[in-house]
Amino acid sequence: MHPKFTAIAHPNIAFIKYWGNRDDALRLPLNGSISMNLSGMESLTTVQFDETLEQDTFELNGEMQSGVSLQRVSQFLDHVRRLAGLNRYAHVSSTNSFPTGAGIASSASAFAALALAVSKAAGLDLNQKDLSRLARLGSGSACRSIPDGFAEWLPGEDDENSYAISIAPKDHWDLMDAVAVVSQEHKPIGSSAGHKLAYTSPLNAQRVLDAPERLKECREALLGRDFSRFAEVVELDSNYMHAVMRTSNPPLVYWEPATEVLLWQVWQWRKQGHAVCATVDAGPNVHVLALANELEWLQKALLELPGVKNVLAGKPADGARLLE
Ligand code: DP6
Repeated sequence: MHPKFTAIAHPNIAFIKYWGNRDDALRLPLNGSISMNLSGMESLTTVQFDETLEQDTFELNGEMQSGVSLQRVSQFLDHVRRLAGLNRYAHVSSTNSFPTGAGIASSASAFAALALAVSKAAGLDLNQKDLSRLARLGSGSACRSIPDGFAEWLPGEDDENSYAISIAPKDHWDLMDAVAVVSQEHKPIGSSAGHKLAYTSPLNAQRVLDAPERLKECREALLGRDFSRFAEVVELDSNYMHAVMRTSNPPLVYWEPATEVLLWQVWQWRKQGHAVCATVDAGPNVHVLALANELEWLQKALLELPGVKNVLAGKPADGARLLE
């Protein structure tokens, strides 16, 4: 038996979104993106290579996986086997502390933790850039869960230069993400299939063209801790991505009626002077970004809104790391 390695990683919430690839296999994105790792939610993944295995095994939240779920992990392990020149299968066991497939990007924390655990288990000692590149091959947004705190994914031109870097440490800004959970169901179309539809929207080219401006605006607002500037660009970018999704062929509509109510309400609160804004990923849940001093009333108020089942709160978190 080979040594066993366990890694932990957090999901991240994108302020400027990744939607659409230039290269689906390599997950080279159409545009750069900016995100924050979320504490209090995590994937914990253990990997061990085993010469007696005849195929990889993958256990998720205590259940043995087969079919596409196992296949996605196994294909990811193939990249590492190639890199390490290793000819062995592995046991992979992972737990998520939050609902899978509900727009809280479990694939980001899952593949970030897996990239770190499996590279170590295979005897590789990758630097942060190469770990981020590796995580990207499993799930694009996972490359942003490797570095600490606030991350920017530099889109790059090829596999070599498409990876995420930390643009500010976790204690840079007291920002919170209060995730209003509207549904814990698996989304009907996952993001991997969704990315392929971006090109079918007549709005896509424009969204990609002016992404660098939004990235600059977001980066500056974040680094300058300017909440109102930040709120404007975050909401614009989320709405822009959902406009592309809705005008795709076939249309992708991830929102539920409760999503609309939440977005409207957050907008009202901001007009009343609260430091809150909202963003939505490929699911119906609403991520309400707020300054930490808003959290107490905000959590209660969100729970009172129709359709809100639960509120998960996350603050800026570290990147992926090994557990002893
Ligand atoms: C809407 O990273 O989940 O959350 O690479 O196919 O795994 P795959 O896609 P994924 O896409 C995330 C899309 C998003 C926006 C974002 O997180 O930037």
